Amino acid sequence: MDILVVGSGGREHAMCWALSKSKRQPKLFCAPGNAGIAELAECVDIKVVDISGLVNWCKEHKPTLIVIGPEIPLCLGLADELIKEGFQVFGPTKDGAQMEGSKDFTKKILLDNHIPTAKAATFTDYEGALSYVRSQGAPIVIKADGLAAGKGVTVCETVAQAEAALEESMNKKVFGAAGNKVVIEEFLEGEEASILAFVDGESIIPMVSAQDHKRVFDGDTGPNTGGMGAYSPAPVITEKLNAEILEKILKPTVAALKKMGITYKGVLYAGLMITKEGPKVIEYNCRFGDPETQVVLPRLKTDFVNICMAVAQGKLSHLKIEWDERPAACVVMASEGYPGNYPKGKVITGLAEAKKKSNVSVFHAGTALKDGKVVTSGGRVLCVTGVGKNIKEALENAYSGVKEIRFDGAHYRKDIGWRAR
Ligand code: AMP
Ligand code: GLY
Repeated sequence: MDILVVGSGGREHAMCWALSKSKRQPKLFCAPGNAGIAELAECVDIKVVDISGLVNWCKEHKPTLIVIGPEIPLCLGLADELIKEGFQVFGPTKDGAQMEGSKDFTKKILLDNHIPTAKAATFTDYEGALSYVRSQGAPIVIKADGLAAGKGVTVCETVAQAEAALEESMNKKVFGAAGNKVVIEEFLEGEEASILAFVDGESIIPMVSAQDHKRVFDGDTGPNTGGMGAYSPAPVITEKLNAEILEKILKPTVAALKKMGITYKGVLYAGLMITKEGPKVIEYNCRFGDPETQVVLPRLKTDFVNICMAVAQGKLSHLKIEWDERPAACVVMASEGYPGNYPKGKVITGLAEAKKKSNVSVFHAGTALKDGKVVTSGGRVLCVTGVGKNIKEALENAYSGVKEIRFDGAHYRKDIGWRAR
């Protein structure tokens, strides 16, 4: 069978890797892929935003399954177009992808269905937003409604900061149209963790928990990034909490979507704050997390092709999904300057040595091939995952892989998993 994976990051490399281990021995294609993915899949030079290009490729090559990684093509309706053409797709349609594409859409679902989340109000007028912020006081959280490449959320410690965030989003339009509408939210205190779940429109199977590090520097300081590392499981999520998250959060969310006529198929990613009152939803994403995928999929024992097919066909209830008990941890190696501007084209060495180590996997995030050499081509360059008998050993394995790899200006956090060690 032929499978097309859409995307080019560490997440998609981990997805291709998991698909490639299937007993069904699929032939993999990836659009557009990267230098690491190219070892497992035939890379197809079509951008993830080129919806008609991707649909035309599928019409010509007729893959059995299309697995969509990033949120942008999902929000642009790639799944809708492919389903219209009769393809089996892993990833929600445009209406379901609004769970990530619009913070206001999600907030309404959460509040209307009494699903635990932060109190919030939505504004399209600056004056209204300003007076609401002043009436609520700080700390307070300002969120651009639409997709803002992970930069649309400002946690404000003071009212002045919140006023500035409103000015940036609503008047200066730093997030473009995505920030015309803002959701202003109560600040939640607690520890964060993520639960990703497979959803086939009806059945929900949560994956093992994960936790990422969003800040660029050690001690969880510095600007936000796409994620500098992750580990699984997240010790903060106990068995009891897992059950509570399924019953009080995931089930009512999927039921609410169904009531709206939305058959959600793919991954539903719940970003949670574990507060004193219990778990509350911070956000939903309509896809696998990056780098959470790089620690969750290495723990998956069940055939990933079978899972993706079952999701696409609405047959998830027929499957039992099994996980490796051993924890996993990953460390992201980034380009100098990331998450700001960064150079590209730096030669990467030591990849083969790192990969040779047992219990170490190297997932490429932003790499390309140039004159036969692997070079950097993104902010997050590589994600090195280790598996071990406990989190500490998983981390040691991940860092032993990192030590082998060199490129000019490489930086990575030295304290991944500090809460879990
Ligand atoms: P998001 O882009 O929605 O994942 O938000 C980015 C980060 O902002 C989250 O990972 C949290 O650390 C923080 N955050 C978002 N909403 C809240 C909230 N209501 N209270 C406290 N922190 C929040
Ligand atoms: N690691 C956070 C995300 O994928 O959204």
